[in-house]
Amino acid sequence: MTITENPITGEYEGLPTESPLGFPLDWKWLRGAKSEWGFKPTPGPRGLTMIDIAKGSYGEVPDNPPHRSMAPRGADVDPDTPDMGYILNKKSDVWAENVVELYEEAVARQWSATRDIPWNELPELPNDMEHAMCQVCTTLTEVEMIASDLPAKWMWRMNHDFLEAKMFLCTQIMDEARHAEVFRKRALANGGGLLVSRGQSEGLLRTIIEAKTYTQATALMHLLGEGFILDIFRMGELISPSPVEKRMFRMAMQDEARHVAYGTMHIRYAVEQDPDVAEEIHEALDHGEVVLTQFGTNQDFGTALAVLLGGGVEHVETKGFDLQADLQRKQFTSYLARCERAGISRLHRTKLPLDLLGIDPNTVLAN
Ligand SMILES: [Fe+2]
Ligand SMILES: [Fe+2]
Repeated sequence: MTITENPITGEYEGLPTESPLGFPLDWKWLRGAKSEWGFKPTPGPRGLTMIDIAKGSYGEVPDNPPHRSMAPRGADVDPDTPDMGYILNKKSDVWAENVVELYEEAVARQWSATRDIPWNELPELPNDMEHAMCQVCTTLTEVEMIASDLPAKWMWRMNHDFLEAKMFLCTQIMDEARHAEVFRKRALANGGGLLVSRGQSEGLLRTIIEAKTYTQATALMHLLGEGFILDIFRMGELISPSPVEKRMFRMAMQDEARHVAYGTMHIRYAVEQDPDVAEEIHEALDHGEVVLTQFGTNQDFGTALAVLLGGGVEHVETKGFDLQADLQRKQFTSYLARCERAGISRLHRTKLPLDLLGIDPNTVLAN
């Protein structure tokens, strides 16, 4: 039989109703599912981004998706599509206004810990400085992949209509693998090796992975944990004994800033959509701040940082500890400022010793 396209309806006529093996054929995909046929996105200067294709109905992310399947958002989905067991089915559970842009940025800025760090240029360091660098890298390589495990724990529970948020978290998982890699490599690359690991770090990691809800988990991880690490990376110029470490911290900092930006905007979106969520986040942070302070008093990491900042053990008392206190002040100030941006002001709730840390609440508000 001849198959023809009807010039008026655009439908194909004369299609076979059975396959060669005798199975019935319905040709639904060719008869015009409810797609936006004819919609053609225009690539921008960067190429064809996820923002370029998020147009018309394809750009609409529902607040409460009707399906629980992996059907692509915008496709014509069978009503009896199976349930994948998602529990994060509200957009406000996972979304952030900047998440699509952050995904594109993450993909564009992937780097290689093998290729992009000039390992051959590592200078020989005095013993104390090499030990200190190795200790900092031991602790960093230990904590980095919590920020892979945590999204991985929750991602398969996220409704697939929030595809771009899941894709962004995939980039975070890859970023953290690279961070674990780069710090492990630095610990080994100059003949020092992996030094000491103690319980305080594990206590913090356990609190994050065991959070009861994803929003609590992201507050603990993105706002609190990764925010603190981001400030350490920001101090990379001062911490690094050579240009090799400077580059390592600079590259990791770009990635970390994206993770923190997602978390801050996610919390903000969640609280805007449902103000009751704020109390849940506050409770998580009440506990998180205590555990983080315990992590912050980790002797190994703290003293190693002070030695690097001071430029050697002989300067630790005259210079190193002061610079380390500056770093801590910056970390807590930017954490509290981040909470303000996320719409969950901690200034009147935190039990952190602001006086002792030398933090003026007005500085936080101006940050
Ligand atoms: Fe990281
Ligand atoms: Fe991160």
